[in-house]
Amino acid sequence: MVWLVSSLFILTCGLNMSRRPNVLLLMADDLGYGDLGCFGNDTIRTPNIDQLAKEGVKLTQHIAAASLCTPSRAAFLTGRYPIRSGMASKAGSRVFTRLAVSGGLPPNETTFAKLLQQQGYTTALIGKWHQGMNCESRNDYCHHPSKHGFSYFYGTPHSLVEECEPGKAFKPNAAQEAKYWFYTEMAALLVLSLLLGRITGLFFVKWRIIAFATLCTVLFFIFWFPKHGLLRYWNCIMFRDHNITEQPMKIENAASRILKEAISFIERNKQGPFLLFVSLLHVHTPCFTTEMFRGKSRHGLYGDNVEEMDWMVGKILAAIDKEGLRNNTFTYFASDNGGYVESRDDNSQLGGWNGIYKGGKAMGGLEGGIRVPGIIRWPGIIPANTVIDEPTSLMDIYPTLAHLAGATMPQDRVIDGKNQIALLQGAVQHSEHEFMFHYCGAFLHAVRWYQKERGALWKVYYVTQKFHQDGSIGYACSEDKVIYPNPPLLFDLLRDPSEVNPLSPNSEPLFHTVLQRIERAVEDHQKTLTPVPQQLSLDNNIWKHWLQPCCGTFPFCWCDKESDHKS
Ligand SMILES: *[C@@H]1O[C@H](CO)[C@@H](O)[C@H](O)[C@H]1NC(C)=O
Ligand SMILES: *[C@@H]1O[C@H](CO)[C@@H](O)[C@H](O)[C@H]1NC(C)=O
Ligand SMILES: *[C@@H]1O[C@H](CO)[C@@H](O)[C@H](O)[C@H]1NC(C)=O
Ligand SMILES: *[C@@H]1O[C@H](CO)[C@@H](O)[C@H](O)[C@H]1NC(C)=O
Repeated sequence: MVWLVSSLFILTCGLNMSRRPNVLLLMADDLGYGDLGCFGNDTIRTPNIDQLAKEGVKLTQHIAAASLCTPSRAAFLTGRYPIRSGMASKAGSRVFTRLAVSGGLPPNETTFAKLLQQQGYTTALIGKWHQGMNCESRNDYCHHPSKHGFSYFYGTPHSLVEECEPGKAFKPNAAQEAKYWFYTEMAALLVLSLLLGRITGLFFVKWRIIAFATLCTVLFFIFWFPKHGLLRYWNCIMFRDHNITEQPMKIENAASRILKEAISFIERNKQGPFLLFVSLLHVHTPCFTTEMFRGKSRHGLYGDNVEEMDWMVGKILAAIDKEGLRNNTFTYFASDNGGYVESRDDNSQLGGWNGIYKGGKAMGGLEGGIRVPGIIRWPGIIPANTVIDEPTSLMDIYPTLAHLAGATMPQDRVIDGKNQIALLQGAVQHSEHEFMFHYCGAFLHAVRWYQKERGALWKVYYVTQKFHQDGSIGYACSEDKVIYPNPPLLFDLLRDPSEVNPLSPNSEPLFHTVLQRIERAVEDHQKTLTPVPQQLSLDNNIWKHWLQPCCGTFPFCWCDKESDHKS
């Protein structure tokens, strides 16, 4: 049966694929559309990624399903809008804010890694996960990469965050610091009075209550006492498979370890076929950059970090070449969402640049938050030095890889991505995408319609975010914190890619026709949505001490096994 299916596959797809390709996925974190040389940046040095683009296809309309990492990556991994897996927030944070939360990519979602693993691929995730970890206990690992088809994992199950760099942790101002001390003192005073009351017999309190109040006070103190940066012990942890190797992670070594792991995986698995997903910690804040690159770029610490990332990409691609795997590897590079444009440290840039596109990371459906650089190389099969302006999605990687590996896609659910191999090869002119839905959390903010027969690219906004007084845009997705324009705002993205001139019925004769067609598409789309458990609900996204991964006896979690065993 398997033989029959795979022979049919080889016959029908018409590619010479007696050997299925290896798959190398490189994903940067928060890299902006305008941050690479090959995407028009002439002051930043990204020679390795530029070369990759020259040897492959550059996707100029590559769209993330969300403008933030947790939902965008969930969509990437599953080929489905995050709202389908419960990874789209209805209120509160749109990403997992701590490692010890109970939410995560549900075990019944089928990632492309799982599909490829079932097809005999050796699979690995190296780097960032940010799709949850545990459900009910400290080590049930119900959301661990290993449950989602990655046979090997090295990296951080959370994300790189400010507190991972000692001393960079959130710097409270004097008023905030005073507030923390005030709360701590009040809590301590309360515990003390309970204790005194009980001892002197003035009133009766159960010991259990006193113990609980004491624990809360102590936890509050160590959790929030800013100068200690103790959050780093809870969130910045490196794992190898299920084992903690560093708690907290040594941020100064993270880049070289990730690089070493990626190269070593390629060497170990050169017989193939393998799937290697290198999920870089770069270029997320705090933009920790090693000595070799610090102060070298023209764009502050952020630019240094981009250039270091490019160097890492170059090293990984060199390993592919060294093993003679270049022609037999489907290589992909993208960012998970747009650049964090307004991120600054003192006066230096700490976030990405989205070129001509408006907005950035976390900003609902704005182009700058969802349009990311995308590159695909597969020499001899996908033409070199080609630009594809057609709409593509990060979710397309899912069905495309399923096709290349000869896997059958799950039939019991909607897959939103499209197999783009024919478009990539130049066998067809147009992308299969007609409508794309741009969500902010669980709320539909905008829709794009690629009207192929007219060659038009429309984008309509049902919801927009509010501008703050300083000109920056708010992050909220719903209720009174957003605007519901009436009629909805319509843009022609081909004539107005920066989304500055909304059309009106006067300026655009098709105004109402276009809106009606898009409205129908939204109705059809909404009919395919079913209620699922909310992974980012308040309850699933708060710190739970019993879920905290810990390499010692909680709360004494400290270890460094990496420097013990040198390999
Ligand atoms: C190049 O990237 C840097 C870093 O994000 C940015 O500050 C700069 O504006 C970009 N330049 C161009 C021409 O896009
Ligand atoms: C994880 O730790 C266990 C127990 O110490 C060990 O047997 C196993 O080999 C470790 N796994 C990895 C990948 O290091
Ligand atoms: C790899 O593919 C390119 C492009 O088709 C070809 O020119 C080159 O000879 C191939 N290299 C090997 C080692 O097969
Ligand atoms: C996964 O399980 C949840 C609840 O248990 C269900 O609502 C959802 O439809 C399932 N998803 C898939 C893809 O089967």
